[in-house]
Amino acid sequence: MSPQTAKKKTTKKTAKKAPTKKPLKKLTAAATSENHVKPKLYASLVVQLLSLLKGEHDFIANAANFSALLFSSLPNVNWAGFYFLQGEELVLGPFQGNPACVRIPMGQGVCGVAAQRCETIIVPNVHEFPGHIACDVASNSEIVVPLFDGERLLGVLDLDSPSFGRFDDQDAEGLNELVTVFVAHEERLGP
Ligand code: SME
Repeated sequence: MSPQTAKKKTTKKTAKKAPTKKPLKKLTAAATSENHVKPKLYASLVVQLLSLLKGEHDFIANAANFSALLFSSLPNVNWAGFYFLQGEELVLGPFQGNPACVRIPMGQGVCGVAAQRCETIIVPNVHEFPGHIACDVASNSEIVVPLFDGERLLGVLDLDSPSFGRFDDQDAEGLNELVTVFVAHEERLGP
C-alpha cells in the first residue's frame, strides 16, 4: 500500500467519527456572523464613497458615481439612484438600472411619500404600497432615503430589489450614513 492510500484511509476513518453536533455548531456561527454582514458592507462603502468623492467638485458626477457604487456593491438591487426636488416635484437624477419615470409629484409613489414625510421608507412588497410607481416590473421591494442639507430637503435616494423584503433597518442605517457623508462633502465644497 502506498503512503498516499494509507493517508486516505485514515482521513476516511476520522470523518466517520465526526460528531453529529458539528453542523449545528456551523449554523449557529453562520447566523451570528450574518448580523455583521450588512454593517461591515456599509462601513466599507463609506470608505469607498469618501475615496470616490475626494477632490471632486461636480455634484452630478459625484451623485452618478455614488449610485454606481451602490448598484455594483449591494446584492439583489436592480435600481439605485436619485430624485432631486425641483419646486413641488422630484426629478430624476443620476441612477443605475432600467430607464425610470422622470417626474414624481410630492406625496406620490414611495419616493414622493418619503419626500413629503421627510423620512426613510422601507417597502417589503411594493405591490401592497398604495400608489407605488412601477418603473421596473422586476422590482418587488424598495427603500427610499431622503437627503437633507440641514433642514432643507434636497431629494431622495431610491433603491429597488427583485427580492421581497430585501431591505431592513440595517440598510436604512447604512444608507442614511452614506447620504449624510455625500451631502456633507457637497456642503464642504459649496455651490
Ligand atoms: N417606485 C418609485 C418610483 C421610482 S422607481 O422605482 C425608479 C416610487 O413608487 O416612487
